[in-house]
This record gives sequence, C-alpha cells and structure tokens, in this order.
Amino acid sequence: MRFLVLHGPNLNLLGRREPEVYGRMTLDDINARLEQLALHHDVALDIVQSNHEGALIDAVHAAIGTADGIIVNPGALGHTSLALRDALAAAPPAIEVHLSNVHAREAFRHTSLLAPVCIGGIYGLGAAGYALALEALIDHLTPREPAPAGEG
Ligand code: DQA
Repeated sequence: MRFLVLHGPNLNLLGRREPEVYGRMTLDDINARLEQLALHHDVALDIVQSNHEGALIDAVHAAIGTADGIIVNPGALGHTSLALRDALAAAPPAIEVHLSNVHAREAFRHTSLLAPVCIGGIYGLGAAGYALALEALIDHLTPREPAPAGEG
C-alpha cells in the first residue's frame, strides 16, 4: 500500500508554534514516527507539507491512481477550503487528522468542510492521531473474509 500524508499551512512550525496547543513535537518528529509505523506495516508514504492551497490540491491530484489512501491534516484549510474538499472527493479514501481538539476551541474550528468527503476523522489526540489514521486506513483497505456461518 502507498499513502499520501498531507500537512497543511503552518504545520511546518510545529514545536515552535503555540506549544501549549500543539505540543513540542516538530513535524519532522511526527513524520519520523509515522515512517517507522509505515515500515512496520509495509506501507510506503509520500509526505507533503505546504502552506499553499494549490500545492496541496496538486498533491491530492497526484495521489489519484498512485496512492491507496490519504491522511490529511489540512490545518485551517479544513475549515475553509471547498477546493481541497472537491479534490479529496475525487481521490482515494482519506482520513482527516487534527492534532488539537478543534471542537473544544473557537467556534470557527468546529466546522470541517472535508469531513463529509473523508471516511473518518481524528482530532485532539496529538501525534498519535496520525498513527491511528494510518492503521485505520490499512484496516479500511484490507479485504475481509466473511466469518464462517455459526461464528459471531
Ligand atoms: C489543526 C487545527 C486547525 O484549526 C488549525 O488551523 C491548525 C492545526 C490541528 O492540527 O489541530 O493549523 O489542524
């Protein structure tokens, strides 16, 4: 399997940016942890961070036909970007991740324009959210044998 990991605006500042909200891990720390987990599961990752909406959309387009799934922390664009939503609607299955608990913060962070086109979302669990998203995507993409009759 191959996943695109997309980090949106300002996430390059993690570790220095509002550490009381986002913690002290840098984006490199988060990516290294995720790469390790991906290796363990035999999953290849393409990791992209951009502060530019168009570059994020281009990365989603590049994932069409080349990636099996997407993990996206859109930053503030999750609350505002119809264009990113439309791109994800045309792309492989995506999971939206937010490090912070967006629902415990300002009202403008309570809406996600991406949520309806994602298979699910994880918020408030810090860097662990990315790891959970990776495992959830693998689970989503792994075909299951139906349980034999009489079990469960
Ligand atoms: C964020 C939450 C967004 O509301 C915010 O704009 C971010 C980070 C998070 O990971 O908690 O940039 O996506």
